Amino acid sequence: MSGSSQIQQYLADALSAVVAAGSKKELQDISVKYLGRKGLITSVLKGLKELPIEERKTLGGLSNKAKVELETAIKEATKIFQATEVKEIIDPTLPGIAHRQGALHPITKVIDDMCRSFHGMGFTIARGPDVESDYYNFEALNFLPDHPARDMQDTFYVEGDKMVLRTHTTPVQARTLATSKPPMKIITPGKCYRNEAISTRSHCIFHQVDGFLVDEGVTMSDLKGVLVAFCRDFFGEELKLRFRPSYFPFTEPSAEVDITCFLCKGKGCQLCKYAGWLEILGCGMIDPNVLKFANIDPEKYSGYAFGIGVERIIMLKYRITDIRFFYENDIRFIRQFK
Ligand code: DAH
Repeated sequence: MSGSSQIQQYLADALSAVVAAGSKKELQDISVKYLGRKGLITSVLKGLKELPIEERKTLGGLSNKAKVELETAIKEATKIFQATEVKEIIDPTLPGIAHRQGALHPITKVIDDMCRSFHGMGFTIARGPDVESDYYNFEALNFLPDHPARDMQDTFYVEGDKMVLRTHTTPVQARTLATSKPPMKIITPGKCYRNEAISTRSHCIFHQVDGFLVDEGVTMSDLKGVLVAFCRDFFGEELKLRFRPSYFPFTEPSAEVDITCFLCKGKGCQLCKYAGWLEILGCGMIDPNVLKFANIDPEKYSGYAFGIGVERIIMLKYRITDIRFFYENDIRFIRQFK
């Protein structure tokens, strides 16, 4: 196609597009397509300097005319749209658009609350890896290789049997003991993993906050004092604690702690299954073997430790009936915990 018929074709196309345009925006688009910096007519004009003088004159004249004609057509058409355009009317009585605020996930919020409570009692925070060595997850915590207690924890193994997804946050205690010197007063919040069937009560991912203190002359009554203070802070001032003997490989003696059911105040209800008590954590005095693994002299130092299941206490406190709610990302669930 010669330059002249090309330009005429452009103009004809552009003009029929102007006639068909249904909005100012469409007109602007036509203007950009033909007259913009890289527009079709503009590029013909830009290419003129390459042409022999005669051709340049005719095509130049034609292109300029086409340009002016299209500009005028677009301007006129724009005017029509402007004339019929309804000015935006602001009605101040209409309700505004509410911007919904986000909320922390209840697990994050409760871990924050727990950390704040323990921080107030002088604990600092330590963290460790989720993929943990068998050594720190088990051995340094006095689970010997064939210890039957390993069966208590349904472990996910990674890379043969040397690495695991930690089954509890207690390995952070073993790590910290091995790398720091007493006195230590530390809590270790984090995720844990167990190869358990997912049900209303258990999940393969969950959270714990472990805590421990190692110093000279630490006794079980120090442990009781800290746990009573925490439970009253978290669940309410009046509750009582009950220590029941239990077993963990890394503590001796070991105990499980119940609190009086905050719903029925101990009278017995559905939440506490009519026992009047709710089990909330495990604890004990750190086994001397655990201190020895970390080269801490058990003759000189002693310590206590405790481990709290985060989901369990949130479920109790907020009466959540299914642990799976925590991981379903239903905004209606999460929003309740602001
Ligand atoms: N690690 C234990 C578990 O997952 C919980 C626990 C019990 C942690 C007693 C402790 C403790 O630090 O002293 O079942």
